[in-house]
Amino acid sequence: MRALVTGANGTIGSCVVAKLIERGHQARALVRPASDRSSLEGLEAEVVEGDLCDLEGLKRAAEGCDWIFHLGAARPAKADDHRRFTQVNVGGTKNVAEAALSAGVQRLVFTSSIGVYGFVTQGPINESFPVRPNTHYRSSKADAETVLLKRYKSDGLPAVIARLSSIVGRGAKSWVPFYRAARQRDFRIVGRGDNRIQIGYATDAAECLLRCAETPGVEGEVFNVSGAEPLKVRQYVDIVRSEVGVYGEVGRLPAAPFVLYTHLATLAYRATRREPSRTKHYEVFLADMEFDLSKARERLGFTPTVTTAECVRRTAEYFRNERLL
Ligand SMILES: NC(=O)c1ccc[n+]([C@@H]2O[C@H](COP(=O)([O-])OP(=O)(O)OC[C@H]3O[C@@H](n4cnc5c(N)ncnc54)[C@H](OP(=O)(O)O)[C@@H]3O)[C@@H](O)[C@H]2O)c1
Repeated sequence: MRALVTGANGTIGSCVVAKLIERGHQARALVRPASDRSSLEGLEAEVVEGDLCDLEGLKRAAEGCDWIFHLGAARPAKADDHRRFTQVNVGGTKNVAEAALSAGVQRLVFTSSIGVYGFVTQGPINESFPVRPNTHYRSSKADAETVLLKRYKSDGLPAVIARLSSIVGRGAKSWVPFYRAARQRDFRIVGRGDNRIQIGYATDAAECLLRCAETPGVEGEVFNVSGAEPLKVRQYVDIVRSEVGVYGEVGRLPAAPFVLYTHLATLAYRATRREPSRTKHYEVFLADMEFDLSKARERLGFTPTVTTAECVRRTAEYFRNERLL
């Protein structure tokens, strides 16, 4: 098969490219002219330049492809203006859908986010949980899903949606502030830390995405994707702290004011479409981020191999090597 990968130089995209090549497929990697391509070095991919906002360029890139893996996105840490989320994540996905239909691809795999479920305090979360995004980024992912599912129904677009949990790997830096904070002696958690967190590794996520393309009969389906074995947040914090060289009891702050704030911020976002600051800042301590992966296991035969604890160890090692800690 020949596959176009958008976001090909990203943390997960580069693993998708590597896995495609490993499986004997041809990978066409879409990168922007100024993208850092170091993650693609040594991979026998055909690199093409383009931008999700350029429909004609995308159509050319998709020509002759059997599959599209659409991972390119404006991410919260990088987009300085929330309108970029609409432009790139919703508009770009519309363009990818158009390009996929004009190339007649057999499968379009889209990386959405478990963030579309919003602030959930009682997991495990399965795919039938309501979609209630509470930030601009999360809304853009939910809107992009809607675009694809509509085209699936109206035009038979063979789209599959993978809702990824937090995924770490080479290049992923979103946890740097948390690891730095956890290194401080006066670091405190909010609440008891009994809620769960489940994080996945990029190679596992890429494996699941390939299965979304290879498995017959899953067009129009949505799958949660994460790592193996969630942790209680206080265990998670303990592992992070031991990895950054801090030991001993961690202090606690009462959860109630933070829960109230997060609920109010979520309501305010839904009512006004304005995102109060720190809407999701405390979620790690308050939300129950355990995911039910049984659908991916049963329909795609996907079982993650990297545990949440191992994700922490690898992430800490990566941050140390990159001198980010
Ligand atoms: N990692 C996670 O925790 C996580 C969780 C849930 C969902 N996801 C989703 O999974 C996908 C991959 O995530 P990742 O962690 O690999 O992200 P990443 O490393 O931040 O990569 C994002 C990619 O999108 C590209 N991109 C951004 N704007 C673009 C545009 N206008 N045109 C073309 N390409 C553009 C970036 O190119 P440049 O290098 O040029 O900026 C980069 O290659 C994304 O869709 C993300 O939303 C990730």
